[in-house]
Amino acid sequence: MADQPLPRVLSGIQPTADSFHFGNYLGATRQWVTLQDEFEPFFFIADLHAISVEHDPKKLGERTRVAAAQLIAMGIDPERSAIFVQSHLPEHAELAWVLNSLTSFGEARRMTQFKDKSAKDGEGSASVGLLTYPILQAADILLYRPQYVPVGEDQRQHLELTRDLAQRFNHRYKKTFRLPEPFILKETAKILDLQNPAKKMSKSGSSPSGIIDLLDEPTVSAKKIRSAVTDSDSVVRFDEAEKPGVSNLLTIYSALTGRTIEDLVTAYDGKGYGDFKGDLAEVVVEFVTPFRDRTHELLEDGDRLDAVLHHGAEKARAVASRTLADVYERLGFLKARD
Ligand code: TYM
Repeated sequence: MADQPLPRVLSGIQPTADSFHFGNYLGATRQWVTLQDEFEPFFFIADLHAISVEHDPKKLGERTRVAAAQLIAMGIDPERSAIFVQSHLPEHAELAWVLNSLTSFGEARRMTQFKDKSAKDGEGSASVGLLTYPILQAADILLYRPQYVPVGEDQRQHLELTRDLAQRFNHRYKKTFRLPEPFILKETAKILDLQNPAKKMSKSGSSPSGIIDLLDEPTVSAKKIRSAVTDSDSVVRFDEAEKPGVSNLLTIYSALTGRTIEDLVTAYDGKGYGDFKGDLAEVVVEFVTPFRDRTHELLEDGDRLDAVLHHGAEKARAVASRTLADVYERLGFLKARD
């Protein structure tokens, strides 16, 4: 009997910083690594999304390579997974245009990420790209007809829009898209800023001391953990409402070691925050040190990385171009002559 094709998993990450941070890793990319065993995996670097806010063209290409190296260093296997760069596949922008035409202005404007990001300088000066960002994201996803999209909590609304657009297209034309499901791990869906645990850890919103970058000097990361904001008592207890800082550290500790929160709470019973943070700092150093070395090693061979991305784009194109051809046919576009 022929093997059934595996259902697909797909996700993306922006190359907007010199390093991924712990929110990216624990909230999303760690799940990419585990899911690649049971699904046909597609993971990409969202460089088209990265230009929806002002960016530095001198850094974008290198950051894209650094992103690819980090994915491989954390365990994404280029033999099994298609690792590719979004701008290498024009199909993403092409499907986005189609979906733009299915999305109402009000629907796009209601997205909370657009509201947050445009609030800074006022909606009037935000780019239209920022407004249509989630529609490009919907195109990224729907092209591959995946079952799951592993992301952090902040992407849930974009996934809902993606499902709505898929349903709208399927209903208006013909069933073409699979309705993707978000894959969001409850425990690590929202890693918080170490200095301001009322906010998520984020490339754009966190101060340098609130964010742990995977490629930071390990001693710097250790220091950031030791100076994370906690609260005025000294009991290590998980309580997201009353003790968000400590709870966030417990979440990170548990995710990195595999120890349960209860086990950690029992282990630190009667000890102060100093011991707790000191031990977590060591755990973080042990994790980031080999990861950093591996990433730097991979970056030394730029040709090999580019070859991985080329191979990934070929695998992706085989799927994306077929979906786009179906879409164009269903929309009634006149077929171009060969
Ligand atoms: P990006 O680049 O901002 O983040 C990459 C992934 O990291 C997750 N994440 C977090 N998870 C938990 N806690 C945090 N503090 C935290 N910060 C970030 C994000 O949820 C995300 O999963 N729009 C996407 C990129 C994208 C995409 C796609 C994702 C473009 N097209 C298609 C999935 C499918 C973004 O900006 O992620």
